[in-house]
Amino acid sequence: MLSMSANTSKIPVRIAGTGSYLPAKELTNKDLESIVDTTDEWIFSRTGIRSRRIAAEGENTSDLATEAAKNAMEQAGITADELDLIIVATISPDTITPATACYVQHNLGAKSALAFDISAACSGFLYAMEVAQRMISDGNFKNALIIGAEKLSAFTNWDDRNTCVLFGDGAGAAVLTRGDETTGRILSTKIGTDGSQTGILNIPGGGSACPTTVDNADQKLASLAMQGREVFKLAVNAMKRASEAVIEEAGLTAESIKLVVPHQANLRIIDAIADRLTIPNEKVFVNLHKYGNTSAAAVAIALDEAHREGKIERGDNIVLVGFGAGLTWAAAAIQW
Ligand code: UT7
Repeated sequence: MLSMSANTSKIPVRIAGTGSYLPAKELTNKDLESIVDTTDEWIFSRTGIRSRRIAAEGENTSDLATEAAKNAMEQAGITADELDLIIVATISPDTITPATACYVQHNLGAKSALAFDISAACSGFLYAMEVAQRMISDGNFKNALIIGAEKLSAFTNWDDRNTCVLFGDGAGAAVLTRGDETTGRILSTKIGTDGSQTGILNIPGGGSACPTTVDNADQKLASLAMQGREVFKLAVNAMKRASEAVIEEAGLTAESIKLVVPHQANLRIIDAIADRLTIPNEKVFVNLHKYGNTSAAAVAIALDEAHREGKIERGDNIVLVGFGAGLTWAAAAIQW
């Protein structure tokens, strides 16, 4: 199922601020060599990852989300009282219910903000952007906080070298607000889903279909499982198509794009997308060597780092694009 929108609504929506938070503890490829049968050379050459961050014990997804949110709100100059919407995208919620966004609302003291979660894996931050953007442009909401936050270390099988080397913890956030003729705006968005491929990337246990029991606990089914090669091929095609769609819908060209901020899963995937979009590598933001794949947080963290490093300035056209379990994919073209 696809949804595409050229954002010709009466109320334009812009990004007023971005933020991110990474837990302090680093787990390098070298560290992993003593945990599973792997090497720094294998991990780096196959993925581009050198290190990832791991949340402290007792540091929950909502805590990471809250810190990222505070950074974004500070940059946007928006207080908790002014927020009327909080959406958290995550596949590693604090609890199955209530939503992680409820904890964040309480942490921030954003008493009048509606708060809920979105589960769209690595596309989640861009799904949240699509939903928040529509709720603002409809006129009923003014200031939205969208957050991608993950504590994937809690859903990782540390005995499985196929997956445990890939993922990390972290959070990124953005404040969306009403724009006007003088500001930038979200130009075009596209989100999509293919539910026929749920089996190639999932957390098979821990839900109602396969609860964790005494009998199956040692199988570590409540951990990320992936058929990497299948996912790889589909990721490249889906992100290319989604990027092209938003670029065209926004009336842009590949040459007019200042920066592409893609999902940070694998450097080979990122390079393949850049190549197919005929966008030079220096216009594609990469930080997965530091953080690995942080699922819903990845695009959000990368956007914040690119912004704070001065790689995005007022008036620039940028493209955000993601892909993940579901399968899901999403892209947005934004004039900053
Ligand atoms: O975020 C959501 C979207 N996710 C993605 O986009 C991820 C997409 N997939 C990938 O990034 C890649 O498929 C991986 C990085 C996950 C794997 O790379 P690959 O080149 O597809 O490797 P592979 O799974 O085909 O494995 C190749 C070999 C295997 O050994 P044999 O069967 O050839 O003897 C694996 O057992 O590498 C072995 N292997 C490892 N060796 C050392 C797998 N993991 C490791 C490891 N260290 N950590």
